[in-house]
Amino acid sequence: MTLLETIKKRYSCRNYIDKPIENEKTALIFEAARLAPSAKNLQDWRFVAVTEPYLRKKIAHAANDQVFLENAAMVLVACSNAEYVMACGQHIGAIDVSIALEHIALQATELGIGTCWIGSFDPKKVKKILSIPDDIMIVDLMAIGYSADTQRPAQREPLENILCYNNWKF
Ligand SMILES: Cc1cc2nc3c(=O)[nH]c(=O)nc-3n(C[C@H](O)[C@H](O)[C@H](O)COP(=O)(O)O)c2cc1C
Repeated sequence: MTLLETIKKRYSCRNYIDKPIENEKTALIFEAARLAPSAKNLQDWRFVAVTEPYLRKKIAHAANDQVFLENAAMVLVACSNAEYVMACGQHIGAIDVSIALEHIALQATELGIGTCWIGSFDPKKVKKILSIPDDIMIVDLMAIGYSADTQRPAQREPLENILCYNNWKF
């Protein structure tokens, strides 16, 4: 599969079959995260992989009752404690973690495994469930598992709506 084919194959999977992810595939998925770029190469990301069914159930509840999280083999809780702000004014934590998460999503896709980004959750509740310290930022969650869903056509803006050359022309 080319990279673009993998990108086209990825979609938000909201229905999972009850099947664990093989250790070798899990290792490849996390290797893709580990190799992601980060500002100043700080690699200030930390991931809590939630595989215990009773914890996934609690996380699903803390994620505004997105019950499909209960059925994913794993719910990844992606965290950062990076305080560094780049010269451009952007805080690196969410950026770096998001790059690593998309590496994960694409590697999982290539292995035939579904993912879904989850931004709708209560960080305080998730921290409490997993004993994550207060000063750690949870950037996002990601459901990972074998899909029982079907891919829908991607709804995307045409390129001319999102790209211009040389000067702002929007
Ligand atoms: C940062 C972020 C947060 C998201 N949060 C949720 C979520 O809480 N629940 C959900 O079902 N989908 C969530 N999504 C998935 C988006 O709805 C989805 O990516 C978008 O509709 C495009 O569809 P596709 O991923 O199938 O191409 C999130 C996506 C991103 C990037």
